[in-house]
Amino acid sequence: MNRINGKAHGKVILIGEHAVVYGHPAIALPLLSAEVSVTINRSPTMCIDCVYHQGELNDAPSAIDNIRACIEASLIKLNKQNETFELVISSSIPQERGMGSSAAVANACVKAIFDFFNQPLSEDDRFELVQVSETLAHGTPSGLDAKTTNSLLPLYFIKDKVIEPFSMVMEGYIIVGDTGEKGQTRMAVSSLRKRKEKNPAVVNELMNQIGEYSEQARLCLQNNLIDQLGDLMDKTHQNLMLLGVSNQILNRLVNVARQSGAKGAKMTGGGWGGCMIALAKTHQQAHQIANALKRNGAAQTWILELG
Ligand code: PMV
Repeated sequence: MNRINGKAHGKVILIGEHAVVYGHPAIALPLLSAEVSVTINRSPTMCIDCVYHQGELNDAPSAIDNIRACIEASLIKLNKQNETFELVISSSIPQERGMGSSAAVANACVKAIFDFFNQPLSEDDRFELVQVSETLAHGTPSGLDAKTTNSLLPLYFIKDKVIEPFSMVMEGYIIVGDTGEKGQTRMAVSSLRKRKEKNPAVVNELMNQIGEYSEQARLCLQNNLIDQLGDLMDKTHQNLMLLGVSNQILNRLVNVARQSGAKGAKMTGGGWGGCMIALAKTHQQAHQIANALKRNGAAQTWILELG
């Protein structure tokens, strides 16, 4: 077995998506059970082994331009532009589900490259190098994915202002259900922008409420208030439905989770596909909810222990 040189994990947005685009707070949680690991082997040419390509990095498809850029930026930072190796990427994070797959892969690659050359990696350099990849993948990334996929703590986030890890004291579990459909973050964000231009009063009010719910959710996580947190998740989902960014399959899985005993449930991330999340008090309930989601069409589920 080769030694793993770099690792990172997935993320989910607990609360605050979409409103965060307009300056309201959001909370993201690390999802340790969905992970990426990267191993580096010596090689006479620069090669990559991942789902998109096995072979010379130069021949890789444009789908991994972001990873190529991040590898090149890492080598420049280390002054090792002439070195070659093979990067083997293995990931259990599905792509385009709002689970931070691209940032997690970039994080694991950057960490692996620095580890391979036995060089220390500062937090600032790691973040900057992952953002090279995220900028190519997403245009103007907020940095939330780059941070959360490398954090063991939840993050409280206000766009361009605050990215703050905080500790929680919460006995409970988050169940993540994948609809099996790609999320459509860009389109949902742009449709919401149009809706906001047409009907600013209604949209702003719904966004303000989501911002309030995020603030309250942080207090819930810090004070073990599970019933209240579930209620905030339900209310946020209601607002996201009214904002037009949920869809039938997300709503159906949210209802399945509630009927199976969840304290609360909502879509997560950009919407129009992607994932939903639910809150449970015990591990057994979390399993029951995960099973019910799978019976009702979820492609995959994950269980995350809050703590
Ligand atoms: O789908 P994700 O996890 O990348 O989350 C998108 C979150 C939005 O608030 C909808 C967009 C954004 O840029 O913050």
